[in-house]
Amino acid sequence: MAYTCIETKTDDRVFIITLNRPKALNALNLQLMDELTDALKKGDKDPQIGAMIITGSEKAFAAGADIKEMADKSYMDAYKNDFITANWEQAAKCRKPVIAAVAGYALGGGCELAMMCDFIIAADNAKFGQPEISIGAIPGAGGTQRLTRFIGKSKAMEMCLTGRMMNADEAERCGLVSRIVPVADLMQDALETARKIAGFSAPSVMMCKEAVNRSYETSLAEGMLFERRTFHSVFATEDQKEGMAAFIEKRKPGFKNA
Ligand code: CAA
Repeated sequence: MAYTCIETKTDDRVFIITLNRPKALNALNLQLMDELTDALKKGDKDPQIGAMIITGSEKAFAAGADIKEMADKSYMDAYKNDFITANWEQAAKCRKPVIAAVAGYALGGGCELAMMCDFIIAADNAKFGQPEISIGAIPGAGGTQRLTRFIGKSKAMEMCLTGRMMNADEAERCGLVSRIVPVADLMQDALETARKIAGFSAPSVMMCKEAVNRSYETSLAEGMLFERRTFHSVFATEDQKEGMAAFIEKRKPGFKNA
């Protein structure tokens, strides 16, 4: 698939996807989401890739779903095509880690896309929000659900009901983002983080991600059991033997992703 709304590049074992509709502040139209889905699937399948980054520009990660594209949709269009989620969830479905590197606006679907990623590194100029209420709509790709799990009911309710934006400091304080970095350092920082993850054993990285995600879907007792059984399974990997032997022998491990 040829891409017109995103750019992709590989840096070592890191796959970087840059949203690229600058004139529309990276508004997420169907074409962009098809391309993003395609790219994420490719990165997830490629054995040379260990982690992925989704980013935008300094001005906007993404200013939401494309309002111009959806303004005239009928209920039947939306319902029959399961608009928006059917085509939007790939970032959350990947088995390899996906980092959102967010500068500028992450609004509506942009905030929702960032939250589908495994964690968010924010530039100091990042602004998050779910402004759909101000255009006669509500969040449609997880804003009412994921934001509430990230930051709690009171703040999520306020954000969704008022449509106000939060800055990077507030986003870090309430647990929406993992870290804030100066905007000029965002990509370098995200890349170093992704490289670090991609340098570990790929099976343990995937298992670890799966176990953390499980905590959102289940009770503590079931989650603990899932974690323990998954932990047991690392003893079937060559990389566990290598990783622990390397520690004992005081050398760097040579993981084989096996
Ligand atoms: N959809 C389509 N076009 C958009 C857009 C969007 N979400 N956001 C910005 N644009 C376009 C603008 O229409 C404008 O295009 P033109 O030059 O052709 O007029 C261009 O991008 C630049 O935008 P502004 O001139 O508005 O830039 P600004 O710096 O003055 O303001 C902003 C920036 C505050 C982000 C403002 O653009 C804005 O409020 N955008 C809409 C945000 C929004 O409501 N997002 C939610 C969308 S609904 C959704 O996402 C549903 C869901 O849950 C999935």
